[in-house]
Order: sequence, then structure tokens, then C-alpha cells
Amino acid sequence: MKFRLLHACLALAFATCLSAGSALQAQEAPTKKTEETELGKSMEKISGAWRKLRRQVADPASNAASLELVATIQAAAEKALTLTPARIADVPAADREKFVEHYRQGMKEFHTEIGKLAAALQAGDNAAAQELVRKIGDLQKVGHREFKRPD
Ligand code: HEM
Repeated sequence: MKFRLLHACLALAFATCLSAGSALQAQEAPTKKTEETELGKSMEKISGAWRKLRRQVADPASNAASLELVATIQAAAEKALTLTPARIADVPAADREKFVEHYRQGMKEFHTEIGKLAAALQAGDNAAAQELVRKIGDLQKVGHREFKRPD
């Protein structure tokens, strides 16, 4: 009888250990937030150029250099247009087509505004370029809110 009780206690202790272990494992499982994706890489390119561009967009003496940054952003946006956000995995199958279409519209709009920014810089209109940078910043916010996986 004593043995049976001891046995039961040991079994219980073992089970407790196991479940504590798996809870720990679940906690430690990688919950990757910035997975390397093709779209993520295009975004990194946009981001690097965008940061520099924002700093110098008001300066007419930097317009030639700014136009190069804009060209980098345009090329990366064109690539991004061919890709699908990782968030699609969280969207119900029935809504996925709509999600991708909506994302592409957002990316096209972004690309169009970047084109306007190029035209403003070419025309030497730095006030208009600054205004467009503000507008594009808003498109970034909306794009991330709607299509990027929450952090
Ligand atoms: C100036 C404009 C923008 C900048 C500077 C920017 C920057 C970034 C950065 C730094 C990331 C994180 C990349 C990583 O995880 O390594 C990112 C991710 C992302 N961005 Fe943008 N972004 C811009 C505009 C947009 C727009 C307009 C959209 C959509 C219409 C968009 C959609 C996304 C999505 C979906 C991701 C997650 C990547 C994935 O799903 O694989 N972004 N962006």
C-alpha cells in the first residue's frame, strides 16, 4: 500500500515536471516578429534611403543626391508590389485575395507619390517636396497598420 502511494506521488511529481517543462518551452519558443522576408528586405532598402531623404529634402543643394535616394525607393517599391505581406497567414482564406489587392493599391499609391516627389525635386520645388514627404509618411503609417504583422 505504502509503495502504491509512493508510486502515485512520484508519477504526480513527474507529470508536474513535464507540464512545467512544456510551459517553459512554449514561453521560450521563438515568437519571431521581424522574420526575414523578401518584402522585409525591400522595406529595409526603402527605410535606409527614406531616413536620409527626410533629413535633406528641404535643401536644394542636395536635390541631385535626393533624386538618387528617390530612385532607390522607387525600385524597392516596384519589387514590393510583386510581393505579399507575411500577415496574409493571419487572414482567413476567403479574405486573402481582397487583402492582397488592397495591399497592392496601397503600394501603388505609395509609388505614385514617390513619383511626384521625384518631379518636385527635379523642378527644384523643395517646399512641394517637403509636403510630399509628410504625405508619404502618412501612407507608411497606414500601410503598416493595415498590412504589417503587429509587433
Ligand atoms: C517611407 C515609407 C516606408 C518605410 C520607411 C517602411 C519601412 C519598413 C520597415 C523598416 C519595415 C520592417 C522590415 C523588417 O521587418 O525587416 C517594414 C515592413 C513592412 N512594411 Fe513598410 N515602410 C514604408 C512604407 C510601406 C507601405 C506604403 C506599405 C504598404 C502599402 C508597407 C508595408 C509593409 C509591410 C507589409 C511590412 C512587413 C513585411 C512583411 O510582411 O514581410 N510599408 N516597412
